[in-house]
Parts: sequence; C-alpha cells; structure tokens
Amino acid sequence: MKILTVVGARPQFIKAAVVSRCLSDDMQQILVHTGQHYDYNMSDIFFEELNIPKPDYNLGISGGSHGKMTGRMMEAIEEVMLKEQPDVLLVYGDTNSTVAAALAAVKLHIPVCHVEAGNRLGTLDNPEEVNRICTDHVSTKLLTCTQSAMDFLAKEGLLDKAELVGDPMYDAFLYYGSQITDEQKNAITRVDGKEFVRPQEFYYLTCHRQENTDTDEKLTAILKAMNSLDAPTIYPVHPRNKDRAVAICNENGFENIILTQPVGYLTSISLVNGAKKIVTDSGGLQREAFFAGKKCVTVFDCVIWPETMVDGRNDLSKPDFDDIINKLKTPQVISPDYKPFGDGHSGEKIVKALKEIVLK
Ligand code: UD1
Ligand code: UDP
Repeated sequence: MKILTVVGARPQFIKAAVVSRCLSDDMQQILVHTGQHYDYNMSDIFFEELNIPKPDYNLGISGGSHGKMTGRMMEAIEEVMLKEQPDVLLVYGDTNSTVAAALAAVKLHIPVCHVEAGNRLGTLDNPEEVNRICTDHVSTKLLTCTQSAMDFLAKEGLLDKAELVGDPMYDAFLYYGSQITDEQKNAITRVDGKEFVRPQEFYYLTCHRQENTDTDEKLTAILKAMNSLDAPTIYPVHPRNKDRAVAICNENGFENIILTQPVGYLTSISLVNGAKKIVTDSGGLQREAFFAGKKCVTVFDCVIWPETMVDGRNDLSKPDFDDIINKLKTPQVISPDYKPFGDGHSGEKIVKALKEIVLK
C-alpha cells in the first residue's frame, strides 16, 4: 500500500511525525515536502528532533501570494502523483500545501484522507478557512480532532465520511513531551549563553497570523500589553513578521520582551510547560497550553478551538492592550476529567482509516 503524504508547514511536520511512527511494514510512505517552510528552524529542526523520515521530494515552493503559491504547488504535486501512483493521499490541517495537494489528487481520482478536518471559523476572510472548506469537500475521508469539528461537518452534509480520531498534536505532546531531557528544559532559560528567565517566571508568546501582523498597529498593541506584564515574555518570532517585531520592540523600548528565532518543537513544549501563562494566535499552541493546564489568551477574531474555551482556560482577546491584560487576569478552572482531544492514540486510528480507504 502506497501512501503519499504532503506536508509543508511547521505544524504539519509534528503531525506527520506522529503518524509516521504508527505506519506498519506493509505501508510505504512517500513523503513530499512542498518547501512552504524552509528555514532550518522552521523545517529541518523538526525532522531531526522528531525523527521524521527524510522527505522523498522537496518541491522548494514558498512565498508569493496565496494563489501563486497554491498553483505552483498543485502543478509540482501532480507531477509527483503521476510518477508515484499512490493509493491514497494523506494531508494535514489547513495550509496552502494542504489544499494544493488535495485538489491535485481529486482530479487524478486519488482518494484523499484529511486529518484535522472540520474546523470552521465562519469567515472566508481567513485564508486557512478557505483551505479547510475546499479540502474537506474534495476528501474521501475526514478525520477530526474534536466533536465540534464533527458537528460542523454534519451541518455541511459531510458526516457520512467523517470520523472522530482525536488530535495528533495531543499524541505528540504526550509522546515527545515525556522524552524531553533536563538539559533541553533548561535550555529555555538561556539565550546566547546568558541566563535570562527562571521557570514559571515568564510568559510565552507566539504571534504570526496574517490577521494580527499585517499592520503595525495590532502587533504593537499586543507587544505593548506583553511588555507591561510582571515577568518577561519570550517571543520566538515567525519569519513572516520578524523584522516588524524587532523594529516595534526597538522603537518602543519594549525591554521586557525577549525576541528569539523560532525554536524547535521540544523547546516550544518546554516553554509551554515552563510558562506562567501563554498568549498566542496559533492553533497548535493554544491546544498545547490546554494540554499543559496553562492559562491561555488567544488573540484572534474568531474561535478556532472551542473545546479549549471553557472555564477561563483559553479566552479570546482582541489585539488590544486592555483586552489582553484583562483576559490574562481571568482565573481558569481545570476539570481533570475533561479531555476533548482524544486519548493520545489518534496516530493509530489515522493509520487504520488509511488502510480502510485503500482496502475498500
Ligand atoms: C502558514 C499557514 C498557517 C499556519 C502557519 C504555521 C497558510 C495559508 N497558512 O502561514 O495556517 O499557521 O503556516 O506556521 O498556508 N517564511 C520564511 N521562512 C520560512 C517560512 C516562511 O521566510 O521558513 C516567510 C515566507 O517566505 C513568507 C512568509 O514567511 O513570505 C509567510 O509564510 P507562509 O508559509 O506563506 O505563511 P505562514 O504565515 O507561515
Ligand atoms: N512551535 C515551535 N516553535 C516555535 C513556535 C511554535 O515548535 O518557535 C510549535 C508549537 O509548539 C506548536 C506548533 O509549532 O506545536 C504550532 O505551529 P504554528 O503556530 O506555526 O501553526 P498553527 O498551529 O497556528 O497552524
């Protein structure tokens, strides 16, 4: 059985690591990296740390407008598909790499298995929403992380091809989280060899969404709020908005914010576990805050992961100084029995679903 997996962006490498570990000997995986993320610390570091098989193809396609990137990817992925003749395509999430692969496959009558299907924000202004909807509607099998995703798929008449398998990011958090060494944990307290924060005495910020970083105004408000807190903020900056973040911090004298390069997954998880609280616009990071029982504020217009937004655990905030500060103060209550992201074995269920698609 030949599976063609297409990945391209940081969170997809983590999910591919989970599933690749669960593949059985009779399953041959052809791994295609579109090249969407390409810096060492946005790409290679994940393959190295998480022992992901080396990609069989790297298409080297990144940057440009959404349409241009997606179109170039479709063309190149189609060529690989024609050559490899896979039994099934496996894609994750909602990036341009995801939708490009799904569209190329469906036109070649290759069944598509979409992991992390069914999430909806309710607005086509969000570029990832467009990718999610298109991918779900052309897929053969929709594997969801949560019940709310199943409910969205039911509303769109897609329930008959949907299955709730749980969240591979939860699998990753449990599996790789338990392997982090003390040395790796301590590495988070040092930058350039200098000790700068102590565990539980810093905030962890990630902010890279087009919606928050396209204008200086929103990013400035977010950084101003973080700078005013009672402990430093560690902010590994996505290359999309690195220059702007550095300039805003310098111009405004935001010395309580420590800007770093993007970090690897193991360091990111260590930051999650070590932080007082988390502020983010990342879909992945807000779930990891939830898994770790850390209070999270998500700076975004829409709810991405409704299951996390209970009991003050993850509050939605506008990119606004007062709103962020107030939401950070809201206490959270943790119910230990509330586990909406599955049992940490979604990888095995995804592999089972792939076999069923091919054997049908
Ligand atoms: C993409 C996904 C988003 C996801 C994010 C994960 C889409 C539409 N969006 O957004 O859902 O949350 O990945 O991190 O696919 N860049 C570099 N080096 C890199 C990677 C990117 O310099 O290693 C630059 C690119 O050249 C581009 C910009 O960053 O100009 C944005 O990258 P892009 O992949 O288009 O979108 P993301 O913001 O990463
Ligand atoms: N992450 C990382 N290094 C960083 C920032 C984030 O490894 O510098 C991890 C984070 O812990 C989570 C994933 O990247 O596992 C989330 O990816 P991202 O925020 O890029 O995308 P999204 O989840 O929003 O699609």
